[in-house]
Amino acid sequence: MSVYDEVQALLSEVRSFETQSEEELEQFRRKFLGSKNIIKPLFSEMKNIPPEKRREFGMLLNTLKREAEQKYNALRAALISQQQQRREHLDWSLPPLPMGGGSMHPITIVLQEVIDIFKSIGFEVAEDREIEDDWHNFTAMNTPEDHPARDMQDTFYTVHNPHWLLRTHTSSVQARVMERQKPPIRIIAPGRVYRNETISARSHCQFHQVEGLYIAENVSMADLKQTLWYFARRMYGPDVQIRFRPSYFPFTEPSAEMDVYWGLETEADYRITKGTGWLEILGCGMVDPAVLDNCGIDPDRYTGFAFGMGIERQAMLKYKIDDIRLFFENDLRFLRQFSPVIH
Ligand code: PHE
Repeated sequence: MSVYDEVQALLSEVRSFETQSEEELEQFRRKFLGSKNIIKPLFSEMKNIPPEKRREFGMLLNTLKREAEQKYNALRAALISQQQQRREHLDWSLPPLPMGGGSMHPITIVLQEVIDIFKSIGFEVAEDREIEDDWHNFTAMNTPEDHPARDMQDTFYTVHNPHWLLRTHTSSVQARVMERQKPPIRIIAPGRVYRNETISARSHCQFHQVEGLYIAENVSMADLKQTLWYFARRMYGPDVQIRFRPSYFPFTEPSAEMDVYWGLETEADYRITKGTGWLEILGCGMVDPAVLDNCGIDPDRYTGFAFGMGIERQAMLKYKIDDIRLFFENDLRFLRQFSPVIH
């Protein structure tokens, strides 16, 4: 290869050289620009070049030198700015990016409020299965198969075994606790329940309940009323008005429903309270002796009261939500309006 070709080859090497590595760039620098660089000795070749070609050869050498310098400077600048960017990425003093915090579901908030109130007066939380057998959901609760009250709580049965169903109330938990525990029993049973209802703004096929049960010697209707009145004052404020209306449940005798006074000022009040100003929030009564008997508790010795309330209804009142379906759709625009999770 002639010296001329050698210089041409070096020039194209310089032109095509690319790197992102500091080491390779340093090798490049040493080869073309260092104290023992490859270009320097080529200048002394000048004397061997025919005089008419010398000028051209000299210019070529200068181009090589200049382009090597330019390439080096450009690559070096690119490397430095890349390193700076990387360092900026690792700036630990920067404030964190805002993170989307979660929020408590309104049902969770109200459920917890109810649980806290009853816990503060000595009730313990009891939980059990959502897929229940017929006995604990209905029969033990004094609602045998041919009982017309089963229509009140038409439910979902499993396809393969109609003996198993989605519980219609957490009274099933009460039955299970009574079977395994001796009185005194003082529990609340919060949880999800299911009913075969047409879904509308007012009712859903799934909802949440808190049921309560107190069994001991000499428990009376007065204890029931006092307990629920205490609950209402804690939940709805000290000036709340309540009333009890006679009602019917197969598992309690006598039975009642409790209303709280909501007011009758606006058109919405009329709609929500069906024109009475009163809102039904729970069912209750003295546990029927047959239920105690079914669950192995001596009805001659013990008496008890029970109550059951829906949580959705109370959350709707508290937050002025007019459609029960919103609770189950998990639309973030709805959920974000409630209090953030406290870490
Ligand atoms: N289990 C009833 C229901 O789901 C509520 C209730 C519980 C009523 C306890 C009376 C006593 O509707």
